[in-house]
Order: sequence, then C-alpha cells, then structure tokens
Amino acid sequence: MVALASTTIAILIAVAVSAAWIVYAVFNWAAGRNEIGSEIELAANRKPYFDDEELEGSRLERMQFLGVIMLATITIGLPVYWLFEPARQSGAEEGYQNRFASWGGQLFAPTSEGGFNCAGCHGGMNGTGGAAPYTVTDSKTGEVKAVSWKAPALNTVFYRFSEDEIRFILEYGRPFSPMSPWGVKGGGPMNEQQINNLIAYMKSIQIPRENCIDPEADARACEGGHLPVAEQDKIQAAAEQLVEDGTYDSVGEALFNLDLGSGAFSCARCHTPGWSWGEPGQTGAGAFGWNLTGGATNSHFATEQEMIDFIKAGSVYGAKYGVQGQGSGRMPGFGSLLTDAQIREVVNYVRSEL
Ligand code: HEC
Ligand code: HEC
Repeated sequence: MVALASTTIAILIAVAVSAAWIVYAVFNWAAGRNEIGSEIELAANRKPYFDDEELEGSRLERMQFLGVIMLATITIGLPVYWLFEPARQSGAEEGYQNRFASWGGQLFAPTSEGGFNCAGCHGGMNGTGGAAPYTVTDSKTGEVKAVSWKAPALNTVFYRFSEDEIRFILEYGRPFSPMSPWGVKGGGPMNEQQINNLIAYMKSIQIPRENCIDPEADARACEGGHLPVAEQDKIQAAAEQLVEDGTYDSVGEALFNLDLGSGAFSCARCHTPGWSWGEPGQTGAGAFGWNLTGGATNSHFATEQEMIDFIKAGSVYGAKYGVQGQGSGRMPGFGSLLTDAQIREVVNYVRSEL
C-alpha cells in the first residue's frame, strides 16, 4: 500500500514538474520574441545592460527563492524516497510471492479446472488430506489389486519439511506411491518456476503457526513456533479417543498410527507396510521409512533423548543422527507438529513396544 501511494505521488510530481517546464518554455519563448536586443536592431552584446540596482532587484530574489525551494525539494524528497524504498521493495517482493502463489494455485487445481490435480488427491484446494486410486502388486504372488492410497494433508507440510526437502519431493515424487515426480529433473512436466509457484501456493495454505518470532520463516527454523494449540489438542483428543475405544493400548501407539489428515501427523504411513491403503502389515516393519522393530532402531540411538531429538528435528540431508546414522532429509521433523509430551509418548512406544 505504501509503495503504491508513493508511486502515485511520484507520478503526480513528475506530471506537475513536466507541466511546469512546458509552461516555462512557452513563456520563455514568448518573452524571447519581444526582446529589444534582437540582432536586427541592436546586437545583444552591444546593449548597455541594467545596472546593479536593477539587477539585484526582485527578479533575482525570486530566482533565489525558487532555488531554495528546489533545494528543499531535493533535501526533503531524497530522504523521504529513501524512507519509503524498503517498504516499496518488500511490497514488490510480496507482490511477486502473491503472483507466484496464485499461479501455483492454478497448477494445484483439479484437472477439470485445468490444473495438475494436486487438489484431487490431497483433499481439495486447502490440501487437508485425501486419497488416490492406485494399484499395488504383491511382490510374492504378482497379484495386482486396486487400492485407495492415503495422500497426506499438505496444509501442514511446511511444519514437517524444509523448503528444499519439499522441492525434492515435488521434483522426484515418492517412489512406488501415487505421488509422481513433477519436476523435469525427475522426469515430470514442470520447470523450476512451476515448482516454485507450487511451493509458494502451498506456503499460502499452511495453517498459520503459533508463537513464531518470524512467521515467514521456515517452520522448523521458527523458534518456538508450532501448530496452533487447538490443532495439537485435536490430535491429542483423537489419540485418546482411540485408546478409550480400545483400538490401541497407549496414546503413543495411537499417535504412531493416527489417521488424521490422511496420516499427516503419524509415523505408520511411512514405517508400516500397507498402512497407506488400509491393509497394514506388522506395525513399524518398514516401508518408505525404515524398519523400527526388534530393538535395532533403539541401538541406533545412544539414549532415549537422542531419539527424541531426532524425531523432533527430522533427518537432514547428509547430517549425522543417532550413533552412526546419516540422514537423507526424507524423515519429517515433528517438533512443530506435536507437543514434547506427544513425542515422548511416541518414542516410548517405539522403544518399548516395537
Ligand atoms: C495421484 C494422486 C496424487 C497427485 C496428483 C499428487 N499427489 Fe502428492 N502425494 C500423493 C500421495 C499418495 C502421497 C503420499 C505418498 C506416500 O505414502 O509416501 C503424496 C505426497 C506428497 C507430498 C509429501 C507430503 C508428506 O508429508 O509426506 C507432497 C509435498 C505432495 N504430495 C505434493 C503434491 C503436489 C504439489 C502435487 C501437484 C503437483 C501432488 N502432490 C500431486 C498423491 C498425489
Ligand atoms: C514421510 C515419511 C516418514 C514419516 C511420516 C516418519 N518417518 Fe521415520 N523415517 C523415515 C525415513 C525415510 C527414515 C530413514 C532416515 C532417513 O532417510 O533420513 C526414517 C527414520 C526413522 C528412525 C531412525 C531409524 C534408524 O534405525 O536409524 C526413527 C526412529 C523413526 N524414523 C521414527 C519415526 C517416528 C516415531 C515417526 C512418527 C512420529 C516417523 N518416523 C515418521 C520416514 C518417515
């Protein structure tokens, strides 16, 4: 808004100054015609000019006054311009982000609206989680069957992954799942700008974070920022309900397997084979994410706290985790999605029950 207002003011000033110059030029031209010192009558340089009395009169003062006004315009105008420049720049940047987001929205839209149907699988334009028709092949029998594969909510994806990790997922897809590669790099149809637009769009649909020092920052760099308490309470209530129903024995187990947002807050969608299409095999036996059963995972972490820290931050490409692990960036961080207590419950479940 500020940027817009100063642009308008600048245009008005430019118009006024140009008009003033035109008026000045016309008057100057007209005055020049009547000049008595024209070449025909008397050469200008031969004319005895005005004496000091006359020269240092009101005309000179008027000109000096005009000079002071011009100087004031420059000395005030420049700092004012300098003052508004950062706002103009950030306004321009925001404008670009908004434009990218709206173009990204066109890509995100269902096929019927000319998009690439992210919305169709991921639960509409707000990306609240959905499912995708898919076929899986039984690796032993070779039998093929149609399934409905859960597509996680994307309105919290920036809570889980960094922007680079999301870019990687978009470019290369999730192998052996309905999520195909979209970037040219991964063999998909979209160039870098389109991927950027999708990222800008997904940023615009994130549930606003709470207690963030810089709400624009990467979710995981956002100090103290987390999913709104109401949403975390919803997760907790859903988990407690499942324990009450007798579906699971502990809140930790329920959180591990939680269906909310098509598994967006759970572990099972990556760590339990078949969970995503409703035919879970042994819990935690490994799918896209590693096998967590049999105590092997426990020995990959020196202490419980080390595992908690890993689950909070998620894996980072190339970075060490646990005793001798090296992250790939594919394990999401849960530190801004779940509360510390919830993470402790899950870790407790993984360490003692799997
Ligand atoms: C055919 C259905 C389908 C389409 C179309 C689709 N996705 Fe996906 N997407 C999925 C499924 C299913 C998963 C989860 C795969 C798994 O289980 O690991 C997924 C995973 C993701 C993830 C990772 C989220 C996470 O937390 O693990 C992102 C990000 C994503 N999709 C974004 C998009 C975007 C952006 C588009 C549009 C260009 C898109 N998807 C189109 C089905 C789809
Ligand atoms: C989007 C998929 C995904 C989700 C969701 C996910 N993980 Fe993972 N997880 C992975 C991948 C992939 C790895 C392997 C490490 C890597 O690639 O960086 C991993 C590694 C791990 C490890 C370390 C295994 C080892 O022995 O080194 C633990 C422990 C773990 N996950 C627990 C969890 C828990 C608990 C949750 C839920 C709160 C969870 N994961 C949710 C994908 C996922």
